[in-house]
Amino acid sequence: MSSALRTIPRVALRRLPAAPAPALAFARAYSSQRQYQMPRTRKSGSGAGVVGVLAAGVLAGWYMYSKQQDSTTPSWKKVDYAGVYKDIAALLEDENYDDGSYGPVFLRLAWHASGTYDCKSHTGGSSGCTIRHAPESEHDANAGLEVARRRLEPLKKKHPNISYGDLYTLAGVVAVQELGGPTVKWRPGRVDKQAVECTPDGRLPDAAQGADHVRDIFYRMGFGDQEIAALVGAHALGRCHTDRSGYDGPWNASPTAFTNFFYTELLDNTWVPKKWTGPMQFVDKQSGAFMMLPADMAFKTDPRFRAYVERYARDQDAFFADFANAFAKLLELGVSFPEDAPLYRFKTLD
Ligand code: HEM
Repeated sequence: MSSALRTIPRVALRRLPAAPAPALAFARAYSSQRQYQMPRTRKSGSGAGVVGVLAAGVLAGWYMYSKQQDSTTPSWKKVDYAGVYKDIAALLEDENYDDGSYGPVFLRLAWHASGTYDCKSHTGGSSGCTIRHAPESEHDANAGLEVARRRLEPLKKKHPNISYGDLYTLAGVVAVQELGGPTVKWRPGRVDKQAVECTPDGRLPDAAQGADHVRDIFYRMGFGDQEIAALVGAHALGRCHTDRSGYDGPWNASPTAFTNFFYTELLDNTWVPKKWTGPMQFVDKQSGAFMMLPADMAFKTDPRFRAYVERYARDQDAFFADFANAFAKLLELGVSFPEDAPLYRFKTLD
């Protein structure tokens, strides 16, 4: 190797993309000509020097070009999303946390990051991921979600080019799929915003209220009754925590499996007010082990919601299909995706 070549940093050589075809053709032609005309002896050093200098020039030019290309490639294109999916999946299980999985709280984070969307003003939604900033992170509805954000933070370090909006929404997709739910279509390209863009308090549903309020909140996002009834089926997963929302308990006996049990439990049980000093909620009369929020009960008492609840209780496939569509829509509310953002359907790992 000539001394000129040796001056190019090793890292530059490693990062070089394939040289352009004309440059390769020139190099091949020149070197074959050189082999014919000049035997490789130390004395032919001046010819070799010219080749070296030329090659170094081409390489250095290509290095500068590729560096420039790298800096103009948008961050979202530099991320291995299937790799992030796997890394999130590896964070789900922890026998010392809650019912043994972070899936439910990841799903709730994805939903609360997205559910602030207002279709009239086109504000909110997962795009800016303002849920990670105060004051939005401190809104009552978001109590406890720092648990999910903390758990995911090492992945932001490991994949620095992913936006928080993409990371948190993808965590919701992983939770649904890896806990046994349907495949959810997902696209990258959300761009994080600063705290000044936080959405006002009050955009997420209040669990103490009924059907009118639930409709007001979800219609504001642009959803219809069928989509709302499908989305709330996520309450098959996880539980309420007295130190977060103030409510207490799981909705069914398998809170780490994505099922249609929210609907079957809602219809099959008699629900009575829980006798305690906490906020008004319902427990199943028979065991007292499972709970429903006042807002959940609206899906049993409101006739239009109930029609969907009955359908999803009978037909888990119908629930999975409708949930997958409504949830993918939720995660995309208000996001202006780059035109060339690919649509992913990640393969479930289990
Ligand atoms: C009527 C609308 C809704 C209301 C009023 C509501 C309210 C709540 C409340 C109060 C909790 C308990 C939080 C805690 O104490 O940790 C909770 C948990 C949860 N919610 Fe909802 N929610 C609604 C809709 C949704 C939707 C649309 C999804 C997802 C698509 C969802 C997913 C979850 C999950 C997975 C949990 C369990 C979290 C955990 O175990 O940490 N919810 N919800």
